[in-house]
Amino acid sequence: MRNHFVRNNAEILAASSYVIQDPPALRGHYRERLGAPRLNLEIGTGKGRFLTDAARAVPSEGWIGVERIGSVLCKAAGALDRLIPAAALHNICLIRSEAEDLPDYFEPGEIDALYLNFSDPWPKAKHAKRRLTSARFLSLYERILAPGGILYLKTDSDILYSFSLEELPARGWTILASEDDYRPDAGDTSVQAIPTEYELQFRKEGRPIHMLRAQCPASAGQPEADHPAGSTPGRTNEEGAAAHA
Ligand SMILES: C[S@@+](CC[C@H](N)C(=O)[O-])C[C@H]1O[C@@H](n2cnc3c(N)ncnc32)[C@H](O)[C@@H]1O
Repeated sequence: MRNHFVRNNAEILAASSYVIQDPPALRGHYRERLGAPRLNLEIGTGKGRFLTDAARAVPSEGWIGVERIGSVLCKAAGALDRLIPAAALHNICLIRSEAEDLPDYFEPGEIDALYLNFSDPWPKAKHAKRRLTSARFLSLYERILAPGGILYLKTDSDILYSFSLEELPARGWTILASEDDYRPDAGDTSVQAIPTEYELQFRKEGRPIHMLRAQCPASAGQPEADHPAGSTPGRTNEEGAAAHA
């Protein structure tokens, strides 16, 4: 799916009431901000379709979308800003950021559930460290997730799916469920059954969707001594094209 550059994306994001302009300043206060006792985080939220539908479906919980590309996130922000006041969502916010920076924004244990929907698969073995379920990223999630927090993953990529099924248990995560060909029943009201933008496209093309749910180790929510700030894997914009190739 092509994403077009939006020239004034920074202005749109700066003007949106849904975008957190200074995420570290809210560290430890996202529950108050969203008026919710539980926080869900989607990394790579794209244009925000899943996040918005989830925030409507579960209004008692908070929904935070993180996306690295401004031209993409401004579509999510624009759609939310265009809601009439009566339909405004108070339990959702957006952050423009790389996943690598999450521990700067959230206190240990602040997040209850994490969603990775159709994350870039980085199919080449030499790029495996960039996959959002690689050990380096899992160590970041272990810092911000509450003990026993859940990671929900959906992907069309065989490589990312099988990689995740190996990588998660290797770091002490428990696989709670996994399906090679995930087809939620029509009456399924679970959040994971809410289709994402990419998912709708892939289903139209007849591609099987893989799903897994995993629980993080009980030791989660602790700052990690061997992972100092600044040592996380960086990524440049030029690398984006290789994420799917
Ligand atoms: C394939 S799209 C999926 C979008 C959406 N989740 C969906 O299912 O429709 C992956 C998104 O993740 C974002 N992304 C990839 N790596 C990221 C990272 N390290 N931090 C934040 N966002 C990232 C990309 O910019 C892209 O918008």
